[in-house]
This record gives sequence, structure tokens and C-alpha cells, in this order.
Amino acid sequence: MAESILVTGGAGYIGSHTVLQLLLSGFRVVVVDNLNNSAAVAIKRVSELAGEFGKNLAFQQIDLRDKAALNKLFDLTHFDAVIHFAGLKAVGESVQKPLLYYNNNLIGTISLLEVMAAHRCMKLVFSSSATVYGCPKEVPCREEFPLSALNPYGRTKIIIEEICRDIHCADSDWKIILLRYFNPVGAHSSGYIGDDPHGVPNNLMPFVQQVAVGRRPALTVYGNDYSTKDGTGVRDYIHVVDLADGHVSALKKLFEGSNIGCEAYNLGTGKGTTVLEMVAAFESVSGKKVPLVMAGRRPGDAEILYASTAKAEKELKWKAKYSIEEMCRDQWNWASKNPYGYGSPDSSD
Ligand code: NAD
Ligand code: WQD
Repeated sequence: MAESILVTGGAGYIGSHTVLQLLLSGFRVVVVDNLNNSAAVAIKRVSELAGEFGKNLAFQQIDLRDKAALNKLFDLTHFDAVIHFAGLKAVGESVQKPLLYYNNNLIGTISLLEVMAAHRCMKLVFSSSATVYGCPKEVPCREEFPLSALNPYGRTKIIIEEICRDIHCADSDWKIILLRYFNPVGAHSSGYIGDDPHGVPNNLMPFVQQVAVGRRPALTVYGNDYSTKDGTGVRDYIHVVDLADGHVSALKKLFEGSNIGCEAYNLGTGKGTTVLEMVAAFESVSGKKVPLVMAGRRPGDAEILYASTAKAEKELKWKAKYSIEEMCRDQWNWASKNPYGYGSPDSSD
């Protein structure tokens, strides 16, 4: 019998791509999402892309803080493991509305962990972030580096990582993998699912894509006086399908019976790319010009951030495959086929 996986936040950007890879790998999947930052149509499209495996996907619109609803779901369904994506993720908004972030991300996670513990479902993969490294003293970032938060969003990730370490200390039946994503970009090669953030995009590539389809006039480049090859910030961009495959590898690690405990792994490519290099790669695959406006540095931005990939390669037997050009090609394929994401021009802002 195939293992059954609960995916929280599975209607979102990374979640939807991961659910597809899970289905194609033979898992049964139940998605729980409150659709706060996503659309139910994403689930429908994942099911279609999964072909015959689509029948192994179910969706429940539940807020994780609704513990009674979660309990009911766990009473009715046996889950072998949980992948926990659900959370709010906009850094700037977290500075403006810290309580919203602490409430949603922390209370949602505690509610989930309590229900899991009550049902003795003790295998968890959690979506952490490279943001937990703050502004590191050196790169590449290794998992044992000290953690520091630059904003409330980042603090929720560090706190949840600590909670996971504590629950494992208290009960060694917990097997937990904390995945620290670097900068996910791109979309499934079908162009049928992709990133569709509500409101003005915070992240570079969703913004670039909206400029390319004419929804916004220009990209503001935050800082061109960094000590990098062209003065703009360096990040480790990773194709979202590579990231999704990293979750399948993490689950396999949890199921192989090793005494994993509670371990953190970076998911990145190990390569740094500047903002201008990303824009040039996107222009080249799309044939679209992306007008730029040079501006000052964005507060809290690190200069250079990229991953050490050694631990994930060795222990998860996972390595990113896709190049920057392939990330931009798939981002453009999604953007050009869905210029308003899952919505319509009327529903966009
Ligand atoms: P997303 O917003 O597209 O997906 C998150 C999903 O969680 C959404 O569908 C949203 O509706 C749902 N959700 C939020 N709060 C919920 C709640 N209380 N109950 C139920 N559902 C809830 O974001 P994403 O980019 O797919 O990110 C997924 C996870 O990965 C998040 O935890 C995020 O912090 C983390 N992460 C994202 C990035 C990135 O750049 N996208 C980088 C590092 C880490
Ligand atoms: C990338 C580069 C910007 C937008 C954020 C979160 C992090 C993680 C990933 C969730 C930087 C520059 C951006 C724009 C720009 N998310 N930029 N103009 O800041 O590395 O990480 O997303 O966990 O927590 O902080 O990603 O895409 O915002 O920025 O010049 O309009 O692009 O300055 O150098 P970042 P990003």
C-alpha cells in the first residue's frame, strides 16, 4: 500500500509542485490549505498533470489553527508523514504585521504538531528557509552556521526549527527534516502551474515576470553598489521542480528507517547569480525587455547568499539539476500562458 502524505499549504507555489512530484512517485496525498494565498484551481491542475495518479489526491480547505477540523481529518485518515508548507511568507508584511505572522505561522504549526502527536504521526518535513542564516559572515552557508532572524517572518522559521528540535528531544519517535530553501523560481515545464502571489510581488522573479507581461512598468533593482561582479545582490536560485524533488528525497530518508532525529538540510544549487544576470537570462529566453530602475539597498538584504549543498547531496542523495536558463524558460512559459496567474485581469492588482 502506498504511503499517505498530508501536505499542508499544498495549493501554494512550492506545495503544488511538490504534490505533483509526490503523486508521480506513487504517494497518496491529502492537501490541507485555507487558500489564503492560493487558488483551488491549482489542485485541479496538479491532479490533471498527474494523469492516472490524480485519483490519489484529495483536498480539504482547512485552516491549520482549526484544531478540531485537523483532529477530525486525522481521525478519518491515517497519515504516514506530513510535509508542512502552510504559512505566511512576505517579509515586508511580517514587519508591518508581526502578530499576524506569529499567530498564523506559530499557532498553525503548534496545532498541527499537537494533532500529529496525538495520532502518533511522527514523521515531518518542514519548510524552513535560507532566511534563518540572516546575514552570514561567509558563504556558502553550511547547516551548522549560527541562526539569526532579520524580521518576524524569519523569526517564525527559527522558532519552528527550535520547536522541532525540542519535540524530538522530548520524544525520539519524532523524525524531522528541516529543509532550508534558497530562492525558488521557475515553474512546471507544462506552464500549467506556477507562482501566483497575491498583491505586489515581493520576490524578484514574480516581479520580473509581471513586468514582462506588461502588468508593471519596470523592475526596481535594490542596490547596485554591493561588492559583487556587477554591484547587485547575489542569490542561489533553484528551480521549483528541483526543490519539489528534494522533498521526495527527504521523505524517502524518513521512511528508510535510519535514526534521522531532527536534521536541517539546505536546498539550493550552490551557485550564486546576481540580479542583473537573472534579468539578462530572462530577457534572453523571453525576448522581452525588462526596464530597470536603479534604487537603494532594501533594508535587511544580505549581499551574497548561496548554499553549501554537500550535506543534502550526501545524506538525501539529492542534487539540483536545472540551470538558470531553464528556470527562466519555465518561468516565462508559465507567465506567457497565464499572464494573470490563476486569476483574470479583473481579479489582479
Ligand atoms: P505560498 O504562499 O504559495 O504557499 C503557502 C500556502 O499555505 C498557501 O497556499 C496558503 O494559502 C497556505 N496557508 C497559509 N497559512 C495557512 C494556514 N494557517 N492554514 C492552512 N493553509 C495556510 O508559499 P510558497 O512559496 O509555496 O512557500 C511554502 C513554504 O515555503 C512557506 O512556509 C514559506 O515560508 C517557505 N519558503 C518559501 C520560499 C519562497 O521564496 N517561496 C523560500 C523559503 C521558504
Ligand atoms: C532576490 C534579490 C533583492 C525584488 C526572500 C526572503 C527569504 C526567502 C526567499 C522565504 C535580492 C533583489 C528583489 C525586486 C530586486 N523567502 N530584488 N528587486 O530577499 O533573497 O529572499 O525570498 O523564506 O526569506 O527574504 O529574495 O526574490 O526578494 O530578492 O532588486 O523587486 O533580488 O534585493 O538581491 P530574497 P528576493
